[in-house]
Amino acid sequence: MKKLYRNMRIFTPVDGGKPLAGAEQAKISEIKKGAMLVADGLIEKIGAEEEVTKGLDRSQLCFEKDFGGACVIPGFVDPHTHLCFAKRREDEFGMRLAGLPYLEILKRGGGILSSVNAVKGATEEQLFETTKKLALSALAKGTTTIEIKSGYGLSLDLELKMLEVIRRVSFETPLDVVPTFMGAHAVPQEWKNEADRFVDEILIGDMLPKIKAQGIAEFCDVFCEEGVFSVNQSRRLLKAAKAMGFDTKIHADEVHDLGGAGLAAELATRSAEHLLAASEDNLRAMGKAGSIAVLLPATAYSLKKPYAQGRQMIDWGVPVAMATDCNPGSCFCESVPFIFGLGVMNMDLTVEEALTATTLNAAYAINRAKKLGSLEAGKQADFVVLDGETPTTLAYHAGSTSVEEVYKLGEKVA
Ligand code: NIG
Ligand code: FE
Repeated sequence: MKKLYRNMRIFTPVDGGKPLAGAEQAKISEIKKGAMLVADGLIEKIGAEEEVTKGLDRSQLCFEKDFGGACVIPGFVDPHTHLCFAKRREDEFGMRLAGLPYLEILKRGGGILSSVNAVKGATEEQLFETTKKLALSALAKGTTTIEIKSGYGLSLDLELKMLEVIRRVSFETPLDVVPTFMGAHAVPQEWKNEADRFVDEILIGDMLPKIKAQGIAEFCDVFCEEGVFSVNQSRRLLKAAKAMGFDTKIHADEVHDLGGAGLAAELATRSAEHLLAASEDNLRAMGKAGSIAVLLPATAYSLKKPYAQGRQMIDWGVPVAMATDCNPGSCFCESVPFIFGLGVMNMDLTVEEALTATTLNAAYAINRAKKLGSLEAGKQADFVVLDGETPTTLAYHAGSTSVEEVYKLGEKVA
């Protein structure tokens, strides 16, 4: 049986088989009076209502809905989150507001390391409940696919505990979940003066092969930053991960320009994230290598840092995606509509570019574009109904999500 969704104004990027870069990123298809025929959760037909309903045998339909001309876009894809954590760090936010730098809190044993202690102290059930709650909050704001990283474990047992919880979220919520192993999120206290050995013996020698054997993570990510992991350490880790069959990402040049974006280009990682301090040369090299820039404007907002050069990156031919980076430290935000507004208002992306950045390019950044990220025949019927005339409402109606209804695989889920 099929479902017919009609009388909607559909806005979607169009998938050409690779991430949209340069002027392509702004190309959005608009179908004024559109319809979508859905079978088994997938879009069978999409286009002008007249076309979609021509010759349609209505007795085949189990459901039909008139959207009254409402604006519809693809479900948001959030390709970078640390949503799996046990405890908030509101106290640290207060310290940061009082002027203490983010990396200084980590240096003093707080930050990511305090989240490691919280994961250690929580039962798997507790960790699952807090993670699920945030995932459902993201879903209500239009996120239908989400990447979630481990990285508050830093030991094999705790990383596996997190990855189990992440797997459960994928089974027990309507969201598509992409799991990333991020054992290289910080150097654990006990390895403080031996980061090289932690990388070579523990991460590469022990954790990566065991995580791979369990088939519980698809990507490997590393925090390449002054006082965390160097470019050389990150290179060794990502090369080893790639050789074992992981897809790769890198937290690059968030606070200091270490050359993480250059490493992303060198290794052609699927994406590099943050890039607040990245150099033009390295960003252009990323564009040439096809590495996607995943920009996290709510982190710049929360850290009170200058925003990444999103406008320039697009002009330089780098495919740009955006993500929340939702985490208890540098950015407690699971709202893609908020990210959308920041992208338009503070990184000078056009509405069309921001729509591509939060849907199709974001799907590419987690290797899901074959299945989702745009509303086209053959892809999943994951879509969001907006309260507004066009996607512009996402930036215009500030402080409101503008998200009225959320559909996953053709079913209303929020
Ligand atoms: O992407 N920069 C590193 N990791 C996270 C923050 C994690 C935390 O502070 O808990 C980020 O901003
Ligand atoms: Fe992050």
